[in-house]
Amino acid sequence: GKREAVAAGSRRCVCAAVSTRTASPMILQTSHRSCNADAYLNFMLNLPLSEITFLVSSVDLLSSKTGQNRQEHHTDLYQGDELIIRRGQTFLIELELNRPFNADNDKLHLELKTGPLPLVAKGTHVIIPLVDSLEDERWEAKIVEQNGNRIKLSVNSPASAVIGLYGLSVTTSTSKGEAATTHDSTKNIVMLFNPWCEEDAVFLDDEEETKEYVLNDTGRIYYGTEKQIGARTWNFGQFHEGILDACLFILEKSEMPPSGRGDPVNVVRVISAMINAQDDFGVLVGNWSGNYSDGVSPSAWSSSVEILRKYHSSNGTPVSYGQCWVFSGITTTVLRCLGIPARSVTNFQSAHDTDVSLTTDVYFDEKMDPIDYLNSDSVWNFHVWNDCWMARLDLPPGYGGWQAVDSTPQETSQGTFRCGPASVNAIRSGQVYLKHDTPFVFAEVNSDKIFWQKNLDATFSQIHSEKKAVGHCISTKAVGSDERADVTHLYKHQEGSEEERISVETASRFEDVCIEVKMEGEGPRMGADAQLSILVKNLSSQPRRTTLHSQVAVMYYTGVLKGTIKKEQIPWMLPYQQYQNQLVDQAALMLTLSGRVSETQQVLANQTTFRLRTPDLNVKPLGEAVVGKEMAAKITFTNPLPRMLKEVVFRVEGLGLQKGHEVVVGDIGGHSTVTLTEHFVPTQPGSRKLVASLDCKQLTQVHGVADIVVREQ
Ligand SMILES: *[C@@H]1O[C@H](CO)[C@@H](O)[C@H](O)[C@H]1NC(C)=O
Ligand SMILES: *[C@@H]1O[C@H](CO)[C@@H](O)[C@H](O)[C@H]1NC(C)=O
Ligand SMILES: *[C@@H]1O[C@H](CO)[C@@H](O)[C@H](O)[C@H]1NC(C)=O
Ligand SMILES: *[C@@H]1O[C@H](CO)[C@@H](O)[C@H](O)[C@H]1NC(C)=O
Ligand SMILES: *[C@@H]1O[C@H](CO)[C@@H](O)[C@H](O)[C@H]1NC(C)=O
Repeated sequence: GKREAVAAGSRRCVCAAVSTRTASPMILQTSHRSCNADAYLNFMLNLPLSEITFLVSSVDLLSSKTGQNRQEHHTDLYQGDELIIRRGQTFLIELELNRPFNADNDKLHLELKTGPLPLVAKGTHVIIPLVDSLEDERWEAKIVEQNGNRIKLSVNSPASAVIGLYGLSVTTSTSKGEAATTHDSTKNIVMLFNPWCEEDAVFLDDEEETKEYVLNDTGRIYYGTEKQIGARTWNFGQFHEGILDACLFILEKSEMPPSGRGDPVNVVRVISAMINAQDDFGVLVGNWSGNYSDGVSPSAWSSSVEILRKYHSSNGTPVSYGQCWVFSGITTTVLRCLGIPARSVTNFQSAHDTDVSLTTDVYFDEKMDPIDYLNSDSVWNFHVWNDCWMARLDLPPGYGGWQAVDSTPQETSQGTFRCGPASVNAIRSGQVYLKHDTPFVFAEVNSDKIFWQKNLDATFSQIHSEKKAVGHCISTKAVGSDERADVTHLYKHQEGSEEERISVETASRFEDVCIEVKMEGEGPRMGADAQLSILVKNLSSQPRRTTLHSQVAVMYYTGVLKGTIKKEQIPWMLPYQQYQNQLVDQAALMLTLSGRVSETQQVLANQTTFRLRTPDLNVKPLGEAVVGKEMAAKITFTNPLPRMLKEVVFRVEGLGLQKGHEVVVGDIGGHSTVTLTEHFVPTQPGSRKLVASLDCKQLTQVHGVADIVVREQ
């Protein structure tokens, strides 16, 4: 018989019937949009009994969330009643037969197929024999219980199995050679990576870390500047209804053949390409233009759920718009959902070095004013990518563990916008020749900043260099708490080594004046005048006179300057009136200081980025938090600006509390306060987070969160 898969949505749907019109029964399979198990059974019952030798009348995948399979496989948190299992670990299924199983005569095997063209040689068509005892690393099944017409099988899979959606069929035959196959479209099995299985390449040998990096569905993403690190709560939502389906859809849509899905290195590389819309109609469209009117502003999202569901329900139409933290949040969701330990990681002062020259250059003219059009070799205030955990069997020993992967479309890798996985150990030790894209990530965290001045003959001289100018405060959410964990030491050797001290001391012998920029507390606030202190330190025993220039410019977080606001001599203050009409996304400013010491001609140069702190959305739960009982939350926001905010929209979402939606608030007058009450009915017990963010052209990066502990009814 020929099997044909008919697409119904994204799922294959195949029904089977057994024909006994010929003496030797052949298998005949037909396809229907809606499969009807009853029709199949009726058909069987009409057959003369003598011709029914040994058949399976129903298959029970024991897929309940509270059942043994999903509990033992750590998949009970996924919504839905599919059988979701992890590779390298046995699971149980139960078969109802038309009569008791007879071990002497009856033969039986299971088959699993995945992808449009299942092939045994590619591991996408798996034939699972019945054996007496199970062996590791093999597809095998064994009868563990027999009770009347029912048998229970324990099924084993190798830890390198292809992950994804499989259709199950059971073939029975007797010693006479008559065979029958049953396949029921509702009997699909989703196979995931298994970080709890020692043989799996994604094995993570720490229960607390596995809980965080695979099972935690909320987290924190860091942004801002290294001296003013901001944090926002992100709903990864990998277990939310529809997310697993969306992740499988992304795999299906990628160019990778299903046979490639056994190797996490492949899968991660493909995911990194598929999360951005560039060149493959992936999930999210990047936009850094500052105008997001025909989509959602990147800073208005607080969750991956809405984006992934929208992408799936529109059959793969890219969602508008994202920037690096959104790309990273979605990557964390998809990888955790598929069973690969993953986290979002923020690098401050992230070099975007297009030619991988390992330097970032800052140019000044003859008068020591920055030359803006040349200074586009950008250092991003911050950049967010991902770490994912796996063994690297494709590399020499020692490079397993955390791997950097970046879904933000920046540079193409082998013709596609993707980056990684690059071994973090290889980045730290400078082994940039090890695949994939290690030089690119290495440059993001290790770059010298070179200051150049234009000479009278139009050439440039290097006047100053700053070592270790980039790659600071690499941050991720700590395991088991909402604190920030600094993982810079994983990416770079500890600073302060002897070599480093010697080089610093040598340099400072000739440079006896330095400038530093200091900020009060957590830094200037949006809507108020911004004040910074500039410290000129005299390290010599001689008097020193200096001249100093300053310039402040508005900057995208990508380090691209929008324009100069102000130039003046110190002391330094920036009144609100001067920046109010200039700010762009993320509200970062860059102060460039330059000057000379009269006595020694030493060049002084410094660049500092800082952001204007935005107010929080205050989210306060009201009433009792009980599953199935309506409660509310009060969201309060005070406009920090003296001017009106136009067309303000709040976006609210809480996993297990409230699905993601928009609340149109309208205009908010200068310095005025709005309060709105959100009503919802919690659907799941436990510790939950309600996140809210504000979407408005004039003010971005405003968000808030409430922790809500929901009781069972
Ligand atoms: C923003 O983009 C939209 C759509 O491309 C365009 O119609 C509109 O004029 C733009 N607005 C501004 C302020 O540039
Ligand atoms: C960014 O958004 C603007 C306005 O919504 C749109 O006109 C522009 O084409 C977008 N850019 C990209 C690269 O999608
Ligand atoms: C996720 O992390 C937060 C903060 O560390 C913690 O409160 C919460 O219990 C974690 N959730 C899970 C499912 O581990
Ligand atoms: C710039 O100032 C910061 C402190 O504000 C200091 O750490 C850094 O070394 C200075 N850079 C240069 C090039 O002097
Ligand atoms: C630098 O230090 C020397 C010695 O203390 C002092 O004489 C001189 O005035 C100082 N210069 C400045 C600019 O403060």
